[in-house]
Amino acid sequence: MQVAFVPRYGPPDVVELRELPTPTPGPGEVRIRVLATAVTAGDWRVRSGVLPPGFGVLRGPALGFGGPRKGVLGTDAAGVIDAVGDGVSRFRVGDAVVAFPGSAMGSHAGFLVIAADGRVVAKPANLTFEEAAALPFGGMTALDVLQRAGLKAGERVLINGASGNVGTAAVQLAHHFGAHVTGVCSAGNAALVRNLGADEVIDYATTDFTAGDARWDVIVDTAGNAPWSRVERVLAPGGRLLVVLGALSTLLGAILPRSQQRRIFAGPATEKVTDLEILAGLAAQGAFKPVIDQRFPFAQIADAYRVVDSGRKKGSVIVSLDPAAASC
Ligand SMILES: NC(=O)c1ccc[n+]([C@@H]2O[C@H](COP(=O)([O-])OP(=O)(O)OC[C@H]3O[C@@H](n4cnc5c(N)ncnc54)[C@H](OP(=O)(O)O)[C@@H]3O)[C@@H](O)[C@H]2O)c1
Repeated sequence: MQVAFVPRYGPPDVVELRELPTPTPGPGEVRIRVLATAVTAGDWRVRSGVLPPGFGVLRGPALGFGGPRKGVLGTDAAGVIDAVGDGVSRFRVGDAVVAFPGSAMGSHAGFLVIAADGRVVAKPANLTFEEAAALPFGGMTALDVLQRAGLKAGERVLINGASGNVGTAAVQLAHHFGAHVTGVCSAGNAALVRNLGADEVIDYATTDFTAGDARWDVIVDTAGNAPWSRVERVLAPGGRLLVVLGALSTLLGAILPRSQQRRIFAGPATEKVTDLEILAGLAAQGAFKPVIDQRFPFAQIADAYRVVDSGRKKGSVIVSLDPAAASC
């Protein structure tokens, strides 16, 4: 099978297309013929080796010394089950599915083997394979942080970085859960964020959301520039700061008690199949629609990475292994 292989840390040019043996599913596993996958911020981090401030010392042990331990990256996949291992009753050959290998990676490949009771669910029928491949990374992270925040209907939530992959999902989910949503993004993305359900949009280039009179119950920072020291003044009593992107010092500081019963949540999002089921269900209802910025054929995956490396993508960048089938 063809894979996108990352032999060492570096720019998008390090990504090579290679042939590797097609894996065989073992007992309890299924094999997915991958029709579409995404290049995510997670893939960018592992490929580049660029980690948030303070985490650099952990790169070797966590990701690999000299280059990624997992040469085949890819957190998200949509495709069709083409083989099942012994003892699998949950899926059959031909089933259309969406999978989130997540930190286990491996979806930048013609085939992905995953545990049948792992993070793989039926593809919502109203999503194309490309749209389904755009569902997990941002959706799982956004759902996890909003759950950790215990977001309640009627609360005021601010999403910093509202036009990115995590941000576009967080805006939609917070709106669906009945919150009043403020999105922070560049002016060019204001209409997109409003259409996703934001009640208010702030252009970070002209307005500092921490400087005014508004207060929020929940602040989600996906842009990495809203630490406690900056947002404390605008976080309401009982408020929660959800740090999706932050420095190691922010992660360590999250355990410290804060005034007015406010809290910080930081660290990696959990990866639960139950959350993937919730997201697929919301997508099937039309309550959550993954946003796609651009699509690339697999042979141009390095170009897909170039868009991701900009840090300015809208939602997801999708790579199609079979563009005709993936757009259905
Ligand atoms: N903790 C975890 O488990 C976890 C999980 C997923 C992701 N992450 C991390 O979270 C970060 C975001 O991921 P993503 O997939 O959403 O990335 P993304 O799709 O690249 O989105 C980044 C967004 O940040 C916005 N942005 C840039 N400068 C900004 C500023 N000064 N103020 C506000 N927004 C700004 C951009 O919007 P404009 O173009 O409108 O400027 C862009 O849409 C990544 O660093 C990723 O590694 C962490």
